[in-house]
Amino acid sequence: MEYSCKDFKVGKCEGEKLVDGETMPLVLQPPEQGKRDIESLLVTLKDNKEWFEKMIIKNSAVLLRGYDVKDAVDFNEIVETFGWDDIRYVGPAPRTHIHKRVWTANEGPLSEFIYYHHEMVLIKEFPKKLMLFCEVPPPEGGETPFVPSFRVTERMLEEFPDFVEKLDAEGLKYTFTALSNDDTASMRGRGWQDAFGTSDRAEAEKRAQALGMDFEWLPNGGVKTILGPRSLTRVFEGRKGRRMWFNTLVGMHGKALSSAMMADGSEIPDDIVKRCEEIIEEESIQFKWEKGDVLFFDNLALLHGRRPSLPPRRVLVATCK
Ligand SMILES: [Fe+2]
Repeated sequence: MEYSCKDFKVGKCEGEKLVDGETMPLVLQPPEQGKRDIESLLVTLKDNKEWFEKMIIKNSAVLLRGYDVKDAVDFNEIVETFGWDDIRYVGPAPRTHIHKRVWTANEGPLSEFIYYHHEMVLIKEFPKKLMLFCEVPPPEGGETPFVPSFRVTERMLEEFPDFVEKLDAEGLKYTFTALSNDDTASMRGRGWQDAFGTSDRAEAEKRAQALGMDFEWLPNGGVKTILGPRSLTRVFEGRKGRRMWFNTLVGMHGKALSSAMMADGSEIPDDIVKRCEEIIEEESIQFKWEKGDVLFFDNLALLHGRRPSLPPRRVLVATCK
């Protein structure tokens, strides 16, 4: 495979890391000053579509920097250039549709840390690629840190080989409680009506089943969804046989509205979850958003999150099959 391309200049960004021989993220910039306009970029992407996709798989993250990508319309053109099918978002994040395939990334309060996850990890069909565009870079904080998932598996195996293999063989069971939109006392997160895109109970049940979830109505009008057993790690084609930490154990364990357990319902020891959280943080890659950045993630290979941020911050997203 040819790793260089005359149409891009390979750059550097603060916080990049060398992981198993690959730079994450791979920073691609205009080859010369005159070629930073969106039209030139679209032509370049069209000409190098296959190469570009290989780079996303090889480096897990590719950052386009230094181009005049101004708004959701420009970003959507970039997304559509590749011809990857759209995948509809399902999950707890409040998102607003902006333009064609472009949505806001997450409108949860900026003061909150959105914990590391593979996008839609618990949904049957999850996106292979995640594309993010920075329209307004945050003045402070607000990074989108990401983590090579296989490194988490490797390090957890070093420290807890027997436990990890047992959990991997038996699987995880999750619960998640979605309150009702009508429940004004609800803390945060969306009601089940938003999560399932309907206010009809029977339809919500049908949709949950299609997503592979069991369903239990609660006396307060909310719903408890139960999933599992689900895998702890997964190996995906074309990714060097790496065992990805394809779960949301740390994110859901012991929370007010969610849990992650062994498949038989027994608890996962706190010290193991805590150590896993530390490892994920240690392996994370941080970079600072710049205006116009477009970031491509291999969602099968990376966990990502969002650090607390001062306003304003506007990062838009598109998800692809
Ligand atoms: Fe996400």
